[in-house]
Amino acid sequence: MTRSSPSISVLGIETSCDDTAAAVVRREAGGRCRILSNVVWTQYDDHAAYGGVVPEIAARSHVERLDGIVTRAMAEAGMAYGALDAVAVTAGPGLVGGVMVGLTMAKAIALAHDLPLIPVNHLEGHALSARMTEDAPFPYLLLLISGGHTQLLEVAGLGRYRRLGATIDDAAGEAFDKTAKLLELGQPGGPRVESAASGGRADRYDFPKPLEKREGCDFSFSGLKTAVRETVTGMAGPSGQDVADIAASFQYAAARHLAQRTQNAMDLMDDRDDSPRLVAAGGVAANCTVKSMLDAICERNGWRLITPPAKYCTDNGAMIAWAGAERLAAGKVPDRDLALSAPPRARWPLAPPPKGREIGGGRKGPRA
Ligand code: KG4
Ligand code: ZN
Repeated sequence: MTRSSPSISVLGIETSCDDTAAAVVRREAGGRCRILSNVVWTQYDDHAAYGGVVPEIAARSHVERLDGIVTRAMAEAGMAYGALDAVAVTAGPGLVGGVMVGLTMAKAIALAHDLPLIPVNHLEGHALSARMTEDAPFPYLLLLISGGHTQLLEVAGLGRYRRLGATIDDAAGEAFDKTAKLLELGQPGGPRVESAASGGRADRYDFPKPLEKREGCDFSFSGLKTAVRETVTGMAGPSGQDVADIAASFQYAAARHLAQRTQNAMDLMDDRDDSPRLVAAGGVAANCTVKSMLDAICERNGWRLITPPAKYCTDNGAMIAWAGAERLAAGKVPDRDLALSAPPRARWPLAPPPKGREIGGGRKGPRA
């Protein structure tokens, strides 16, 4: 059944990685989105000494902060729990300890205030995030580029996703983070590499073009990472200019790879729409070089590029609340008992890989 109430207000909770986030979003009658609050606590300092996200520390940090973050999100929205229509929460994929913290909190709020609970796939949050602030009607081609995932998907409608390709090794954001580590730029890697690159020459190092001779829409970042490592270790202490040049050359090579594989996906999807749209979402979509290369291929092919503002590209509670609101409005939510018993999921693909192209196998299935 489709909900016909004039507007829907949803609290969204996100704890799948190292951001503790909560937001209140209102879906107006007619489908417009109003973000009433969006509170994000990023745990960089908690993990800084370890050079990467430590799952146990992330989970503990979510436990310590989530209560206050949710309280702030509700206060900034000027919203009482009784005025909400639902609570949406990331139920996966992600670091399972962190997901469990958010899910437990959301279940408690839903039970205490007798609200529907909507378990949301984090990737669906990213997939729909552009629809909060931009004119992004279905269908569109989605380039999902984050710290854990790199995929090209055809988004035909809510819950209707077809995977065209995915990374066979590292995710795009992971490559930025590892490059930042090799260059000793600190974290968050992506923004640090981007700012170091602004003072560098992108044509100084000719880094590889991954999968250049392979058709299709899969990605690979491990060769690029190795090339950066070999360049850094081959130097006796890189100068500030060397670091800037390596960052710029890496960023250029990564953006070129993303654009080249996206071009292949566009070729597959051509002729399906009079005004085809490419949505780029996830943390790496905040990168200006990535955006300008995607813009260039869109311009060349007569497509429109749509990206959410940077704060909605990286992890946030608003996109989870919005995915919940879209699902509630469309009547695509599980019944109460099923929702309240939803388990936290480390892996939860949005769409299965194309037949015969089940990539990145192994015991646990595809990585990213
Ligand atoms: O979407 P997100 O916040 O979390 C995941 O779901 O993974 O993405 C985080 C990733 C990190 O790897 C981060 O380094 C990368 O996005 N990132 C960027 C930029 N901002 C964040 N990468 C390149 N340039 C940026 N400006
Ligand atoms: Zn994410």
